[in-house]
Amino acid sequence: METVEIERDGRIAWVFLNRPEKRNAMNPKLHFEMNLVLDELEADTSVGCVVLSGRGGAFSAGQDLKEFFRDLSGDLVAQKKAQRAANDWRWHRLEVFDKPTIAMIEGVCIGGAFTQMIACDFAIAAEDATFSLSEINWGQIPGGLVTRVLTEALGYRDALDLCLTGRKFDGTEAARLRLVNEAVPVGDLRARTQALAELLLSKDPEAYRATKHAVRYVRGIPMREAEDYLAAKIGELRMRAGVGAQESAISKFVDDKSYRPTDSSYTSVKGE
Ligand code: COA
Repeated sequence: METVEIERDGRIAWVFLNRPEKRNAMNPKLHFEMNLVLDELEADTSVGCVVLSGRGGAFSAGQDLKEFFRDLSGDLVAQKKAQRAANDWRWHRLEVFDKPTIAMIEGVCIGGAFTQMIACDFAIAAEDATFSLSEINWGQIPGGLVTRVLTEALGYRDALDLCLTGRKFDGTEAARLRLVNEAVPVGDLRARTQALAELLLSKDPEAYRATKHAVRYVRGIPMREAEDYLAAKIGELRMRAGVGAQESAISKFVDDKSYRPTDSSYTSVKGE
């Protein structure tokens, strides 16, 4: 891969966008390569959790204004291919990725980079990271489903403020706005991310996958249909996983007394 690097550490795959000289701005090649990377990691049974980050102290400066926009203008076929690849990995694939995903953000996270940050299950930022929904400056609106998701994730006034001004804000503010789960000093970022990844690796993978789908999909559907969807989802989970995981966890609690879910040492740090 030219634009993506993977580091494997136990069952965690650390995926780095790798165009540091361009602050990991995303060109068409990077989008094509990220689709391949996600295919491989989703199928690889030795991988239990994916962390998405960037090389050179930057998460990503968004779409490559030259290679993604200017160089493709006039070539409709190339534009469509690049656009589809960009939306596939950053949204359609990550949103329901079979395994836990964490965005680890340091340096810049700008414009189109919000899409993959929001699509990951968790996001942890350095306190001094720089965020900006910069699209307004380029004659665009925040793309993919970012505008839609922002109106859910943020208060109405905050969503309007960030989208209409494109102003920059730091990781601490991102945590306060609940755009990321937490912000930590940059020196603690990797260790904190690793601790969260290890907690997620301790969950039953099928239960994790089903729960992720359940939380993401019930948000937009009416109550009665949600009830029916969730009952069907439990049925699907039983079909895929059997009841083995549930029985073994209950037995560790009830019979062996070797497991209590509240004993986990991981606690989340909320932005103030
Ligand atoms: N598209 C294309 N190239 C980009 C880019 C982008 N989104 N973001 C950065 N680059 C390039 C710069 O043009 C520069 O290239 P050069 O070395 O060939 O001149 C290189 O990356 C480094 O950027 P530079 O601005 O010198 O680094 P910086 O650390 O001072 O600032 C940013 C980094 C990200 C704050 C700044 O480059 C920026 O504002 N980029 C635009 C981000 C943006 O609005 N993205 C939204 C696109 S929808």
